[in-house]
Amino acid sequence: RKLVGKLSTGCVEFDEMMGGGIDTQSITEMYGEFGSGKTQVAHQLAVNVQLPQEQGGLNGSVIIIDTENTFRPERIEQMVAGLSERFGMEYDYEEFLKNIRVARAFNSNHQILLVDSALELANELKDAEKPVKLIIVDSLTAHFRAEYIGRGTLADRQQKLNKHLHGLQRFGDLNNACVVVTNQVMSKPDAFFGDPTKPIGGHIVGHTATFRLYLRKSKGDKRIVRLVDSPNLPDGEAIISVTTPGLRD
Ligand code: GTP
Ligand code: MG
Repeated sequence: RKLVGKLSTGCVEFDEMMGGGIDTQSITEMYGEFGSGKTQVAHQLAVNVQLPQEQGGLNGSVIIIDTENTFRPERIEQMVAGLSERFGMEYDYEEFLKNIRVARAFNSNHQILLVDSALELANELKDAEKPVKLIIVDSLTAHFRAEYIGRGTLADRQQKLNKHLHGLQRFGDLNNACVVVTNQVMSKPDAFFGDPTKPIGGHIVGHTATFRLYLRKSKGDKRIVRLVDSPNLPDGEAIISVTTPGLRD
């Protein structure tokens, strides 16, 4: 087992709550309502992971499994410009974009298969300048939620999700990479998925994800990130701002 790496979020409070940053070899689940900032944090991590360790990165590249077509290259450009503000040096946006490989998942089975493709790609890039150090699944649960409707399909869905998460955990272990997944919670009660404040996928996701982050909106661009039920860190909250040049304290 390799030493666990830490990926900085670029936010002091957020990093501190996580014991220094997002861990490699673990699954970190971000859950929250629409607009709570899950996709924004994911974009920022896709940028930060490429930085050298002294700037909080893992000198790596990233694979994004995009299930809702919410990846925005122009956000990466803005966030890379934001890095220049933070560190007072120039960065090449094109280089950053090159190191983000985005795969669209058309349904839940395809999404699961894409983890195998990601494993192959990461293996090819093992000795590259920037090996894959982060895999993002945004959203982990949207396809599952759309496809498995009705009580009779619940066990099936959980079994598939479980298999998917095991594949992702394996990816994190084999590549000493961070695994970040998003999961929407409903603002209104849902007939099939029960408690609106609980993430979709409930128990299984809950048991597999090592770090669970509950995001919620606050005033203006502020977001509250809560670390929930971590096995080795105290529960806590961090306030971040989602701004055009990226995440800020
Ligand atoms: P769902 O995927 O719908 O569940 O939501 P999410 O949690 O992924 O939300 P997302 O990360 O997409 O957050 C969207 C919010 O981020 C917007 O409502 C804005 O508040 C903020 N945001 C997105 N892009 C920008 C930007 O370019 N500049 C600024 N200042 N804020 C932005
Ligand atoms: Mg999103």
